[in-house]
Amino acid sequence: MSRTSHRRALITGASSGIGSAFARTLPEACDLLLTGRNAEALERLAGELARDGRAVKTLVADLAGDKGRTAVVAAGQDFAPDLLINNAGLGAFGRVQDNDPAVERAMVEVNVVAPTVLTRALLPDMLAQARSERRRAGVILVASTAAFQPLPYLSTYAATKAFDHFYALGLASELEHEPLDVLSVCPGPTETAFFERAGSARGPLGPAVDRPETVARQALAALGRQDSVTIGAGNRAYRMLAKLAPDGLLRGPTRRALRRNVKGR
Ligand SMILES: NC(=O)c1ccc[n+]([C@@H]2O[C@H](COP(=O)([O-])OP(=O)(O)OC[C@H]3O[C@@H](n4cnc5c(N)ncnc54)[C@H](OP(=O)(O)O)[C@@H]3O)[C@@H](O)[C@H]2O)c1
Repeated sequence: MSRTSHRRALITGASSGIGSAFARTLPEACDLLLTGRNAEALERLAGELARDGRAVKTLVADLAGDKGRTAVVAAGQDFAPDLLINNAGLGAFGRVQDNDPAVERAMVEVNVVAPTVLTRALLPDMLAQARSERRRAGVILVASTAAFQPLPYLSTYAATKAFDHFYALGLASELEHEPLDVLSVCPGPTETAFFERAGSARGPLGPAVDRPETVARQALAALGRQDSVTIGAGNRAYRMLAKLAPDGLLRGPTRRALRRNVKGR
């Protein structure tokens, strides 16, 4: 459990994986608004986490479309979170030309448009509330180590995660003197449904495979201390390598490694 003092957290993609882990890691004093598409999973989690004196609300909404995003914004304005966790996301392994066009689009809608719309809609009230109550608010974007360089066979996903990462860093800098912390979270391969749902031919592989609870715990510990956190020493080394390597040097080895995640190749 985390020691964060936030009182109301809105978590997108709370029905599974890292989002559920955020919900379980936040302290009991923090009310929750859990969103996702899987109503049953959301209700199960709400039942697990609700306590006397703790409100745990759920909202079923599809973030790939305006209707779902508008519903989350409206519920968020009503809930008035002081912590917004933009976590919902999906990926798709494969060549762009072979991937389902609807999934290619959904990656941009859910990973890019949704956090942009939610953050812009909720930020002014979160800031005003933090200023008036003299407390700190927070916005988390769950990016990925996929944000650090282009990833062949995961091209669209990596580009959406680069957006999340740079958006968070820019926002954090804009708000440097405000009572609101922004954090980009960059997990490497993590044990969730992500790889299976992304059509990967193999499960999460990497220098280390993290547990979603580790990601949530380290993210909440980093919020307010730094503007980005990369989970795990191996992933931090990879981040450094991707930054220092001459442009394109890692592209070939990365392409060969990721090709093995593409079914039938
Ligand atoms: N697992 C990894 O290796 C890894 C590594 C780095 C970053 N990440 C990032 O971590 C975040 C969470 O992913 P995860 O690993 O926890 O995977 P996951 O278990 O598949 O969870 C994804 C979550 O996103 C929600 N979501 C997906 N599409 C949605 C849509 N159209 N509308 C609303 N919600 C939607 C899902 O909700 P429903 O199931 O209810 O639709 C689910 O709660 C993502 O942003 C992902 O990019 C994951």
